[in-house]
Amino acid sequence: MQNNFEHSVKKIMSLKEFKKKILCIGAGYVGGPTMTVIANKCPEYKVTVVDISKPRIDAWNSEELPIYEIGLKERVLSSRGKNLFFSTDVDKEIEEADIIFVAVHTPTKTFGEGAGRAADLQFIEKTARRIKAVARTPKIVVEKSTLPVRAAETLATILHSGEHEVRFEILSNPEFMAEGTAIQDMEHPDRILIGYNESESGRLARDELMNVYLNWVPREKLITTNLWSSELSKLVSNAFLAQRISSINSIAALCEETEADVVEVANAVGKDSRIGSKFLRAGVGFGGSCFRKDILHLAYLCEYYGLIEVARFWEQVVTLNDYQIGRFVKQILQAMFNTLVGKKIALFGYAFKPDTSDTRDAPAGYICHHLLKEKAKLSIVDPYALDNARTELPGDEGIEFEKDPYKAIQGAHAIALVTEWDCFRDLDYKRIFSEMEKPAFIFDGRNLLNHQALFDIGFNVYAVGKPPRSHL
Ligand SMILES: NC(=O)c1ccc[n+]([C@@H]2O[C@H](COP(=O)([O-])OP(=O)(O)OC[C@H]3O[C@@H](n4cnc5c(N)ncnc54)[C@H](O)[C@@H]3O)[C@@H](O)[C@H]2O)c1
Repeated sequence: MQNNFEHSVKKIMSLKEFKKKILCIGAGYVGGPTMTVIANKCPEYKVTVVDISKPRIDAWNSEELPIYEIGLKERVLSSRGKNLFFSTDVDKEIEEADIIFVAVHTPTKTFGEGAGRAADLQFIEKTARRIKAVARTPKIVVEKSTLPVRAAETLATILHSGEHEVRFEILSNPEFMAEGTAIQDMEHPDRILIGYNESESGRLARDELMNVYLNWVPREKLITTNLWSSELSKLVSNAFLAQRISSINSIAALCEETEADVVEVANAVGKDSRIGSKFLRAGVGFGGSCFRKDILHLAYLCEYYGLIEVARFWEQVVTLNDYQIGRFVKQILQAMFNTLVGKKIALFGYAFKPDTSDTRDAPAGYICHHLLKEKAKLSIVDPYALDNARTELPGDEGIEFEKDPYKAIQGAHAIALVTEWDCFRDLDYKRIFSEMEKPAFIFDGRNLLNHQALFDIGFNVYAVGKPPRSHL
């Protein structure tokens, strides 16, 4: 009896009319979390996320989500099956949707014209063509992916080409969340940016999207601009953030030559309210799927418009990042008597930053490849990124993957700290020192640890932008 009743309630719930149907194409690091937050905050909207990757969708529908983000799982579980759905049936969902977010990836081209710099827009174009082929009713198409400025024009041209009568209104709504704090960033955004076309239908579409965000974002945080400003703002925002990291890293190099301490310099400089303290932490360099690609795309765009000097200016941000990674490896090599052959190095952290499993373009990957070229043996420790590390690194005899840092350091000559996970701060370094080969080295690529305490234990300590503390 009870079961029948529950069954009927569920049936009624599933037939419930939703106010609007939102679809997101692309169930990745952006599509999954953003749509989860929208579903949480807007129970009257049906939110569906589709992807061509069946394993990804299966994972979103399972207990083991495909990505790690603080607070994500609870939020998925609270909405999944109610107003949040994950599916591979792209065509059916396109047809039913009122608002379609496009959150497919936009990597850097690896072939042909602009290889290594321009944005590879094939996934965006395929998505647009699919929408055009399937849609029978008007839709709002929202660019969530990061795109080159004026991409909306291309999108509109594809969507409205041929005999097709269906009209689409394109909005730009770039995502500013950062991995590791994605949920927090989306629930409490600094701003939501909506770019729209200045026409009656453009304004209606803009308002429709604003109504979604107004469910939890205060009105004053919604910024509306023209489409091109919105598209460009996302690239510029990433370029400025990365530029600050490269700026302070360049100063770290100077500190190492002059006995100035980059942490002290950054603190003094960042206290100036015109500058501020964020993104002024020197380290082994930035990583992640966005910074490098977005700066290169920006530089390529500048070059396309004949702005060669501007392009070179932004490219230098990336060049400095590569330089910083290279400097870290060189420091390890030089400190350890110019040979790493057969020496075990415990690499603390592989994700591109803490609190994420994402390893795309992580400095750790480059560092590992350099160290392997020197014939070092590696033991890689990371709380969430080991599966990704395994797929990225060569299936080589010289690499171990370890969850337990105390096992990873057994017989190691050095520790290279590459990701500032909190768990590395509070380890028993006395015990670690006693179980390592001597002389024991620590290279703190994120200035996370207490260097004086480590030196007192007996380690030779090398940090970024600080004088080394060596017993040798
Ligand atoms: N990751 C971030 O921190 C971040 C932050 C802001 C903006 N962005 C931007 O958001 C976009 C997506 O980034 P991401 O990190 O989520 O990428 P991702 O690679 O994690 O996800 C993209 C997904 O799109 C799917 N896909 C590709 N083509 C498809 C198609 N035709 N139909 C259906 N699905 C398709 C892929 O299978 C993949 O699962 C990029 O433009 C990126 O620059 C990323």
